[in-house]
Amino acid sequence: MERTIKILPDVAAIAQQAAGIFVNAAQQAVRERGVFRVALSGGSTPKALHALLVSDAFRPQLPWDKMQIFFGDERHVPPDHPDSNFRMASETLISKSPLKPEQVHRIKAELQDSEQAAKDYEQILRAQFALKPGELPRFDLMLLGMGNEGHTLSLFPGTTALRDNGRLVVRLWVGKLYTERITCTAPVANNSAVVMFMISGADKAPALKAVLEGPYEPEQLPAQLIKPADGKLIFLVDAAAGGMLSQKLAAT
Ligand code: 6PG
Repeated sequence: MERTIKILPDVAAIAQQAAGIFVNAAQQAVRERGVFRVALSGGSTPKALHALLVSDAFRPQLPWDKMQIFFGDERHVPPDHPDSNFRMASETLISKSPLKPEQVHRIKAELQDSEQAAKDYEQILRAQFALKPGELPRFDLMLLGMGNEGHTLSLFPGTTALRDNGRLVVRLWVGKLYTERITCTAPVANNSAVVMFMISGADKAPALKAVLEGPYEPEQLPAQLIKPADGKLIFLVDAAAGGMLSQKLAAT
């Protein structure tokens, strides 16, 4: 695993760097395999990246017709709900791009039964990646964020999602949010060619230092589970989120 950590001035700088990495990953994947499969992240940090990708600066560089869009996780809400990761991606990226509906594979989190939503998405991944039993999908790029307590995707501390039991996608109860989530599991993330964290804000600083420099305790800090065995791991963090990192680490 190749790990890169970049401390950048602010979210705009994170988005600028992330957009370049996104374009390079897309162009390389299409050159090599004729398709670019990317898993989008939820939360708010990706919005600045999404805006850049559909801007005049980056839009012409992307092979839109050869892209397949997936989601790393989803809240257990309908796609038009304010909390929906799909809704955020639709508003900030998909609706402003040439992407066709058949290129976008959302988690059907409107289903009352979250376990059924997880199973359905697992089938979508198996079909889209033509997986044989026991195989994992290999995303060309997975975008991730991190919560201020070290969660990523919807892998929350101390939850059942941390034990994947061979699943690609699971549903889980998140007590502290009093809600259910549906999420790809860590083995799926770890099979990606490139995993790119975008982390912003001083509230993330303690967890980020713990994840990168503290003891390996993934039950507490699920972001520590993310280490793509045969891939690149990139942390793009702003000065506020990276403010507690040791100097030597910040230089990597
Ligand atoms: C979600 C995301 C989650 C997110 C972090 C950071 O569904 O919320 O998948 O893992 O990336 O919570 O969110 P921000 O980017 O809003 O800080």
